[in-house]
Amino acid sequence: MTRRALVTGAGGFIGGHLVTYLQAQGWWVRGADLRPPEFRATTADDFVVGDLRDPEVCRRACDGVTEVYALAADMGGMGFISKDPATILRNNALINLHTVEAARLAGAQRYFLASSACIYPEYAQTKTDVRPLRETDAFPAGPQDSYGWEKLMAERLCVYYAEQYGLDVRIARYHNVYGPYGTWDGGREKAPAALCRKVAEAAPGGEVEIWGDGRQTRSFCYVDDCVEGTYRLMRSNHGEPVNIGSDRLVTIDELAALVMTAAGRDDLRLRHVAGPQGVRGRNSDNTLARQVLGWTPRITLEEGLAVTYRWIAGEVAAARGAATPA
Ligand code: NAD
Ligand code: GDD
Repeated sequence: MTRRALVTGAGGFIGGHLVTYLQAQGWWVRGADLRPPEFRATTADDFVVGDLRDPEVCRRACDGVTEVYALAADMGGMGFISKDPATILRNNALINLHTVEAARLAGAQRYFLASSACIYPEYAQTKTDVRPLRETDAFPAGPQDSYGWEKLMAERLCVYYAEQYGLDVRIARYHNVYGPYGTWDGGREKAPAALCRKVAEAAPGGEVEIWGDGRQTRSFCYVDDCVEGTYRLMRSNHGEPVNIGSDRLVTIDELAALVMTAAGRDDLRLRHVAGPQGVRGRNSDNTLARQVLGWTPRITLEEGLAVTYRWIAGEVAAARGAATPA
């Protein structure tokens, strides 16, 4: 039987990479999104442009597919998810409620949910030298923001669809994923892309603004590792949530220094300014991913940032060129 997959959010960053990856594994792939990809043409075999908050759009998207990868979300970095909590919860809840129901009605055999490290309780992420988060740390629940609460609800929704309808579900908790062809300006960009942009835009001898004191910590996962982990999870028998992330903890100042090295810039200084900071520290415990998927990220932060910086610097230069009158 033809292997037919739907990737929702295929106009976005991870979804766009996932479409290409699945096709390389021999899948026929339909994408669905509010819009086609912004930075390059989609390679998807079919593409539904529509609003997945609408059950009819979800029905069209799921028609005839055997597997669904649910990545569509109204999301972004701290600059985005720290605002408009009701809108974020409502939009994402509607997308997830209608997508999983459409997948069930279409007879899809397997369903993947892109959940997030943001589901983990704030009380477990109050220090910079944080203990890496294990999957079992999710409860007692206490995500920091509405985006995390919605992802937790979407996880439970999948668990209940598995229990009541026998839908075969897979749930990944992504930890800050970065790479080329992702949002790099406009307010939704996460720290790696934002810092690449700021370094690319900095004048010689200039400053790079960092939100907070720069000592807050995170781990960052390159997008190729993320899609490979996602696929391994779908092919596994593991129906419970699994972290897909890096377990290398760095401060945001260290991240900025790595970006400057990737850019070959030793002329810049960091300036710490007020801004949304999220949790104080966050890292991924990858024990379960190693055990059940045989997966661990392979691309170092230095390697991933080199590729990402090159791409964002090119975008910045192109935008400047477009803004310069002929
Ligand atoms: P992204 O914003 O690049 O992609 C999400 C896509 O969903 C966008 O193209 C957007 O247009 C689409 N979308 C939003 N609302 C929609 C709607 N109503 N109907 C149809 N499409 C809609 O984000 P991403 O970084 O590729 O993230 C993909 C998934 O992974 C999301 O579910 C996100 O929450 C999750 N995730 C990402 C990260 C990360 O670091 N990138 C971390 C944790 C979880
Ligand atoms: N975005 C951004 N832009 N963050 C900055 C900047 C900047 O210019 N300067 C410093 N930071 C700091 C933020 O204050 C935060 O403390 C840290 O960098 C990481 O910010 P983000 O990358 O925006 O988000 P996050 O790691 O807190 O959360 C992201 O990852 C989650 C999964 O791990 C978000 O994308 C969530 O939506 C996602 O679920």
